[in-house]
Amino acid sequence: MKRSIKLASACAAVMFVAGTLLSIRQTQAQEKSVEEELHVHRLKSGETSAYDAFAYLNRVSAAPTQDETPVQYAGNVIFSRLANTEGRIQLKVVKGFQMPEYLGYKSFLRAWEETEGTAVGACVVCHTPAKFGGTDAKPAPSLRNLKKSNEELKKIVQQKVALAEKAKAGDAKIDQAYKLLVLDEKDVDNLVAFLQTLNELPHDEFRQIIVDATILDTSKMETL
Ligand code: HEC
Repeated sequence: MKRSIKLASACAAVMFVAGTLLSIRQTQAQEKSVEEELHVHRLKSGETSAYDAFAYLNRVSAAPTQDETPVQYAGNVIFSRLANTEGRIQLKVVKGFQMPEYLGYKSFLRAWEETEGTAVGACVVCHTPAKFGGTDAKPAPSLRNLKKSNEELKKIVQQKVALAEKAKAGDAKIDQAYKLLVLDEKDVDNLVAFLQTLNELPHDEFRQIIVDATILDTSKMETL
């Protein structure tokens, strides 16, 4: 009797380990197919952040294609990819990438005029995925792995909001992209939360947050 219990639990343990390995294998296989499907080469460094887990799970393309501008890319991500998934309540989120981060991410991407009250960061114009860095047209540093505190990041984003005010007031020395910015206090906090998702995680942790992904409750969301 005792022996068969022991045997049963040993079997269960083996099956559990096998199951975990299988799901990791499946995740890896899926990951490969996403890469193949999107024809993008995932960057070797900085590809294991909570943001990357989110992007992978929701099949967000890693970077603009050759014929997409950063703004077109952002529009495609929001309207073709996220809106649909959000509407069907199928958006997958991971530890470290939940509602505040998601809202911050969308405001990061929005770089066009919006209905009143919708956060627009226009950050993607100068900080373009996959590195969240500059383009030839707009040189800017990568925002991956900044490893800064919330306070430091908040200060930087607030400085940008101040730049936006100046640009809107007619200061021609400031990049006109800043004219698009519409961000309140809460939006700034959400953006800071999003920036923190760009910090690289150890591979094991990255894999684990993908395995533990959950569905974000988007049923009460109004803005896409
Ligand atoms: C017009 C281009 C432009 C836009 C739009 C823009 N940035 Fe930047 N950003 C820069 C440049 C250039 C720097 C380098 C420092 C500087 O010159 O201000 C920078 C620096 C930063 C830094 C500091 C990076 C570091 O290495 O310390 C952060 C964080 C940042 N930006 C976040 C954002 C966020 C969030 C948004 C959207 C609200 C945004 N940026 C919009 C151009 C831009």
